[in-house]
Order: sequence, then C-alpha cells, then structure tokens
Amino acid sequence: MKTIKLAVIGCGNRGTVYAGYSLLHPDAARVCYACDTSKDRLEAFGAMFTLSPDRLYTDASEMLEALADVDLVVVSTNDDSHFAIAKEVLERKHHCLLEKPMSPQVWECVELVRLAEQNGVSLILGHVLRYTPVFSTIHQLVHTERAIGDLVAIHHSENVSIDHLVHSYVRGNFRNLSPIILAKSCHDLDILCWLTGKRCKKVSSFGHLDFFTEEHAPEGSAYRCLDCAVESTCPFSAVKRYLGSDTGWPTSMISVDTSLEARTRALRETGYGVCAFRSDNTVANHQVVNLEFEDRITVSFVLSGFNTVETREIRLMGTKGDIFANMEENYIRVRTFGSHEDRVIRPPMIHIGSHGGGDFLLMQDVVTRLQNNDMHQAKTQASLSLESHLIAFAAEHARASDTVVQLKDFARKISSQTIGK
Ligand SMILES: NC(=O)c1ccc[n+]([C@@H]2O[C@H](COP(=O)([O-])OP(=O)(O)OC[C@H]3O[C@@H](n4cnc5c(N)ncnc54)[C@H](O)[C@@H]3O)[C@@H](O)[C@H]2O)c1
Repeated sequence: MKTIKLAVIGCGNRGTVYAGYSLLHPDAARVCYACDTSKDRLEAFGAMFTLSPDRLYTDASEMLEALADVDLVVVSTNDDSHFAIAKEVLERKHHCLLEKPMSPQVWECVELVRLAEQNGVSLILGHVLRYTPVFSTIHQLVHTERAIGDLVAIHHSENVSIDHLVHSYVRGNFRNLSPIILAKSCHDLDILCWLTGKRCKKVSSFGHLDFFTEEHAPEGSAYRCLDCAVESTCPFSAVKRYLGSDTGWPTSMISVDTSLEARTRALRETGYGVCAFRSDNTVANHQVVNLEFEDRITVSFVLSGFNTVETREIRLMGTKGDIFANMEENYIRVRTFGSHEDRVIRPPMIHIGSHGGGDFLLMQDVVTRLQNNDMHQAKTQASLSLESHLIAFAAEHARASDTVVQLKDFARKISSQTIGK
C-alpha cells in the first residue's frame, strides 16, 4: 500500500496527535512538511518527526506554495486562522483534515464546504467522536440493531472538568475566541445529529459566564497568581496548577520549554498566570441547548465546566427501551421494556491519544481512504458536519437573543449573507 504523505499546519497539541499516527504506522503515513508560527513548536515538531530544516515553515502560504507530492494537509491551528489556511489548501486542490470548529464565522463554514466541492477535494473535520468506540457502538445499536425501537428523546451531557475549563476557557486560547458551544461542543452537537439521523428543526439555549468574573475574586487576591497573597488557599491557583512536578498536558501547553524557569516566565507573561477571576474571558461556563429534530425527536444537551471529573454521558430513549453510556468509563447499558435484564457492552478500547481512541481511529480511516481513493466516503465530511456547526451558531444566537431559532430560516439567512462575501 502507498505511504500517505502529510503536511501539518499548526504543530501544537492536535497537530502532534494526528501526525503521531505516522510514528505508530510509518509504512502507512509519513509527515513530510510542517508549519507553525512558533519557532519553538516547529523545532520540537521537526525533531519529533525527523524533518530536515528545509521542510519546516513559519508561513502557511509559503509552505503550500512549495508543497510537492502531498496527499493530505492537516490544518490544526487555532480557530481564527482555520478559514484563511483551509481556503488556500482547498484552492490548491489538496485534501484537507481541518480541526473543528471549521471557523468562528458561520458564513466561512458554509464557504469552506462550497470550496471543497468546487475544487473536487475532501474537507474532513476533526469530529473524532464519530470514531470513538462508545459512540460508534451506540450508532450501531440504534440504527443497525434497532435495539431501542424508534428514537424518541436523547439527553446528553458534556461534563468538562473545572481544571480543563479554567485552563482552556478562562485563561487559555479559547477564553474569548468562539462561543464555547461551538469551540467545545460542536463535537457533541455533531454526535447528536449523527445519532438521530434526522435534520434539526428548532433550537433554544440558555447559559452564562457566572463564576469566573472579577466580583468573585477572593479578597486580597492579585492580578497574577505569582503575586497573590491568598494563592495557596485558592483551588484555581496557576502556581499550583503549572509549577508542580507534572509537566504533561495542560502544563505542556503554557511553554514548549517545560523547565521550572520557563514555566514561571509563562505565568509572569501570559494569560496562564492571570487570576482565574480577573481574566478577559468572555465565554459561557455552563449552557443548556434544547433541540427538536424531525419526527418530533427531542434532545437536551448540557455543557458545564463545574465538574471534578471530565465525562460525557448520554441517555437515549426509544419506543422499545433505553440506552445509557459513559464515554470515559467505556460503558454502555441497554435495557428493553418488559425485560429485567441489562445488557452491558464495553466496546474494545484503543488506548492511544484521547477521545477513547477516536483520534487514532479517525486518522486510520482517513489514511486508509486515501490509500483506497475513497475519501468521499469519509465519516466526518465537512458537508455532513455543517449542520452541527449551524446548530451551534443558532444556539449561541438563541442564547444571546432569548429566542427559539427555526434552523431552516437561520440556514437560509446565512446562505443569502454568504453571497458576495
Ligand atoms: N478534535 C478535537 O477533539 C479537538 C480538541 C482540542 C482542540 N481542537 C481544535 O484544534 C485546534 C488546535 O488546538 P490545539 O489544542 O492543538 O492548540 P495549540 O495551541 O496546541 O496548537 C495550535 C498551533 O497552531 C499554531 N498556529 C497558530 N496560528 C498559526 C498560523 N497562522 N500558521 C501556522 N501555525 C499557527 C500555534 O503556534 C500552535 O502551535 C483548535 O482549532 C481547537 O479548537 C480540537
């Protein structure tokens, strides 16, 4: 089989996860080019994937201009640069694996899907949950086995740990870039669309940024935790979080150099050292979304950052029974009406990367499809994920305007605004 040649733009956490597939399967995939605006990250990535300096770029356009013989361009930069980079990748007629969300701007999402179609290439999204064994097994139970009859309702919760919330959405890169319902939960909305197998009709949403605001700052606290007199009693102390002995994620994200000196400098100079109550964060820290799909299927989704442990839990209710699942525990329980027996399923786990193996399985599927020349069949085509992006934008609109959004009208308005941009 052909070895798939990859170019990676954005060599941070996600870029390294996807590229890491090539280290496990060097015959199937090889990283040939890399680009990152951070020289430190680029160098570390180049060393990890043994790339010569002439294959390393700090400018995406320059790298794309120089690309020869590449099968897939992975775009895993921060959300606000996705559109410009992915647009160029597609216009140069490369298949593209783009991290979610496609863009913080709704019309740019629509435009990227159009560009992929126009240029005859595939735009695949990093919606790895479709590959996570718990969710793919549930999909099979609901649609192939029809284990719970006709689907009536779903309740799904994304329980983000407080540690994750504070690192990414209070202090970090995602604190004010996109609505959290898009940045964090377009994954979950995508899974809900996939599991119902229906079109969404109506969206309502409520949610707020409540706790991590200045009025909740402890008395005597300072702007930076390094200067704070009450830091040692604060559960959100950046000193405790980042200057301990654990230098894995998320500590590794604050500085490429993980020496104590470099981490202390990062706390002095970047948002990661700012008091969790005094950051310039704007995103909600808890949000609920209600959806009505075709066939009157109702869905409620709760996103909250107030959890000690990170989990995704889902309950699907049908005309013949119900399913409960916990992703992190790799646990699915199926019960049918009139029977007292529980069927417990623990799908085969892949202990590589995160999302219960979803990262690895997505990459495996994309590489295999490139080898077999059937990319158009990939499970996470952007054209399929557009609906969940639209739902996320509609939910944010519903939350901000305190209204119920009719998704068809919302999509129609977006399309008409896209023209001429
Ligand atoms: N699929 C998932 O489960 C999942 C999980 C987390 C994050 N994400 C998404 O992945 C993307 C990256 O997140 P991350 O956690 O890897 O962030 P990160 O900060 O670790 O990595 C982003 C990298 O992109 C680089 N970069 C930024 N702008 C660039 C540009 N114009 N050209 C080249 N390089 C550039 C940065 O220097 C950084 O190294 C985000 O869009 C995020 O929303 C997806």
